[in-house]
Amino acid sequence: MSSTPAPSASIATAAFTDAVGRRRTFAIISHPDAGKTTLTEKFLLYAGAVGEAGAVKSRRVARAARSDWMKLEQERGISVSSTVLHFAYGDWRFNLLDTPGHADFSEDTYRTLCAADAAVMVLDIAKGLEPQTLKLFQVCRDRGLPIVTFVNKCDRPGLPPLGLLDEITEQIGLQPVPITWPVADGSDFAGIVDRRTDELVRYDRTAHGARKGQEVVEPWATADPQGCPPDRWDAAKEELELLDMEERVLDQDAFLGGTQTPVFFGSALQNFGVRLLLEGFAELAPPPSASPVDEPADAGARPVAAPFAGQVFKVQANMNPRHRDRMAFLRVNSGTFERGMSATLARTGRTYQLKYAHQLFAADRNTVDLAVAGDIVGLVNAADLVPGDTLYTDDAVTFPPIPTFAPEKFVSVRTTDTKRYKQFRKGLVQLDEEGVIHVLRRPEFGDQEPILAGVGQLQFEVAEHRFEHEFGCPVRMQPLQWEVARRIDASAVDALRGQFKTMVVEDSQGNHMALFASSVALDKAERDHPDIAFEPLGTGL
Ligand code: G4P
Repeated sequence: MSSTPAPSASIATAAFTDAVGRRRTFAIISHPDAGKTTLTEKFLLYAGAVGEAGAVKSRRVARAARSDWMKLEQERGISVSSTVLHFAYGDWRFNLLDTPGHADFSEDTYRTLCAADAAVMVLDIAKGLEPQTLKLFQVCRDRGLPIVTFVNKCDRPGLPPLGLLDEITEQIGLQPVPITWPVADGSDFAGIVDRRTDELVRYDRTAHGARKGQEVVEPWATADPQGCPPDRWDAAKEELELLDMEERVLDQDAFLGGTQTPVFFGSALQNFGVRLLLEGFAELAPPPSASPVDEPADAGARPVAAPFAGQVFKVQANMNPRHRDRMAFLRVNSGTFERGMSATLARTGRTYQLKYAHQLFAADRNTVDLAVAGDIVGLVNAADLVPGDTLYTDDAVTFPPIPTFAPEKFVSVRTTDTKRYKQFRKGLVQLDEEGVIHVLRRPEFGDQEPILAGVGQLQFEVAEHRFEHEFGCPVRMQPLQWEVARRIDASAVDALRGQFKTMVVEDSQGNHMALFASSVALDKAERDHPDIAFEPLGTGL
């Protein structure tokens, strides 16, 4: 990556265009346990970035052991934080955004998806579409992200693949187009047919797929069933004929436009179909392209060859407890990022020195000297950057804000150790800025008894854990009765005092909102105050 020459100003050199064209920036999404971690591991194995699979998991465990709040991850067996992995395969350069699969972290997942150009969705062949998959599908569609589907765990008995395709059509409204097709499953599994070449790829089973297995490729038409039961072999033949008859062929525009999803089958654990997926994905997924902008209003979009500009999509503190750092993840949207460059922070108009930048490989960091459009860099000690911030050089630009979610759960929080009040305050600011939780205050209470707002219970657990282990101040949280939040104008605050089952609060940016104990209370407030606009919160789902 550091060998890529920088374009001067907005001149797109051939080397720059080529470098951007080889980028694939994507996320893997799945319902927990469908196999996202295993697939990530196998991508790294095939890319030669790890010698043996198992590395990501053991890194994850090692990292969790090192970092206090990540202990929560380990205890709960869930992935709380996102990581960014950079790897090369053939001529391609992948930036893989790892999103937490837990339903409670949809806000974090959503932000991460804002930095992706495409997504791989992993389904468990035995389970089909699961609740979190449906939600993520919807998020991707809202973001206009093309989705490649990987049906995993074909080494185990699963649902009939044709039925699974119907499920995708019926429940999501996407037309699935199988690019590969499994010949039987479970212990009968005999290989995967590549519909593009009409070849059967047979696989060796290696111990837990720790190493790349041998593949034998032969024409499907003349392939021999070998150990596969004849009825299952014939069933696969019929299914493939049916797909051909239905003329299920991929239309690149329909895929990019979000009406078709190419489908690959395999087993991440056993390495079946992983190479076909990785190569197929690289060929189909779009390279970085022009990014829509908010400012200048008439610009529409910023082309990738414009001077450097990027957007912070996530901020995370204390990823490395030895350094007590704060990392801002920035997606380069245009031009070339160079370490040590200075850029303008659009929100303040001030110059910002980009001294320390890292590219992340699991828990390790490699210093980045140069990154091009589509790449993700971690800016270390980026104290004043918040999610959504735009940094640019030359032509001023502001990218649209990162979508947020309407809070649905509220708790009051206070520290149980009054001597640690300063740390408590620091924690509130930090967690709010990172977007782990939203901090609200009652205007009449000043800084006393802040309220935390979130989308799911796990968010509060993470906040509680971090208060105690990272900021050294144990806290007590008390669930509050509020259920609905609406944004209101500052001028409406007085009128709502004493309103039935309503409370007025303020967020850290000084925005006012009204919290209601129920939708009935909101209805009443709307009827009582027809002159007040109660605006829904959140721009996400
Ligand atoms: P996630 O990140 O989506 O939550 O899933 P993860 O990869 O952690 O996989 C969840 C479980 O499914 C793991 O088993 C993993 O080994 C298994 N798995 C993943 N891909 C395949 C596959 O292709 N075939 C089969 N048979 N299993 C698969 P576990 O028992 O929970 O963990 P472990 O003890 O194997 O680490």
